[in-house]
Amino acid sequence: MPVCGLLTEETISLKTRITQLLHIHYPVLQGGLAHLAHADLAAAVSNAGGLGQVTATSLANPEELRKEIRDVKRLTQRPFGVNFAISEYRAIDSMLKVALEEQVPIVTLTGGNPAPLMPLLRQSETKVLVLVSSVRQAKHAEELGADAVIAVGQEGGGHIGRDDVGSLVLTASVVDAVSIPVVASGGFADGRGLVSALSLGADGIEMGTRFVATQECRASQAYKDALLATPADRTKVVQRSVGTPARVLPSAWVQKILEVEQEQPEKHILYPLVARENNVVAAIEGRMQEGYAYAGQSAAFIHDIPAVSELMQRLIAEAYRSFDRIDHVMNE
Ligand SMILES: Cc1cc2nc3c(=O)[nH]c(=O)nc-3n(C[C@H](O)[C@H](O)[C@H](O)COP(=O)(O)O)c2cc1C
Repeated sequence: MPVCGLLTEETISLKTRITQLLHIHYPVLQGGLAHLAHADLAAAVSNAGGLGQVTATSLANPEELRKEIRDVKRLTQRPFGVNFAISEYRAIDSMLKVALEEQVPIVTLTGGNPAPLMPLLRQSETKVLVLVSSVRQAKHAEELGADAVIAVGQEGGGHIGRDDVGSLVLTASVVDAVSIPVVASGGFADGRGLVSALSLGADGIEMGTRFVATQECRASQAYKDALLATPADRTKVVQRSVGTPARVLPSAWVQKILEVEQEQPEKHILYPLVARENNVVAAIEGRMQEGYAYAGQSAAFIHDIPAVSELMQRLIAEAYRSFDRIDHVMNE
């Protein structure tokens, strides 16, 4: 499959069950990104051929979500998603209602049991993707009627599973366990990653950290610069002591969290430190040492801050080079 000429949506087609299910051109999803995934980023990803998403639960109320959804619709004609972190927001029902009223084509659910929300979602045309971090959760999502699962391994930025299973093993295990499409997530940031996920039997990838370091993402410049400077072995995992592990960039604040988890693992001391305001301090306001910011080990692959369209073009070209390489190996 030689790479020839200009790679455009007219000349390139990567058809998988996920592109067919979601009506997108490339099997690349932008993950939910707390405080960072608004209409501008979501529309840029969808316009570039992937699936962009707005993160609902970092918005203040359902009407803010409605505005954000309408903004995405103004900026793109293409499918997009809305991500809901189930455990984070009390008014999740009213948020979901807005998404359904606005006929959002795709919803992704994470961070809690999706069962109570499925009956409402299943009454609509909206496709439902559930984030999972274990085979057990993936099977449960399939039984509940999810259209696809997103399997997040330990390398990922933000909240990860408790079981310490990396994306390579998790992806292949979930592929073996369910018959609905599987999106691999955690550690994917380029075209090589896409091809590796496809070769494991996945139908696409989700990227979180890589999309933070783009021009369209509202992350602070200091956060983006920190991603450029962080090798794979420098990220930290906080909140393991309370069973909600999350991968973050190192900082003085994160060091304090880790010390508290080690020495005084009482929730009333830990929870104020990991409060969302302390995420905003770093992620949006750029005071990196005074808060925490999510990042995966894939920060190691981030060397620039491109526009989303350039990133996607490059990723697809890399994927084709990887296909070529495999083709070459097999025909030697
Ligand atoms: C800054 C940041 C914020 C995140 N916030 C959310 C979120 O609000 N909801 C969610 O489902 N996942 C969230 N995640 C996880 C991502 O959607 C995705 O699963 C993860 O980033 C994949 O791993 P990667 O970072 O190696 O690409 C977040 C990840 C990052 C890096």
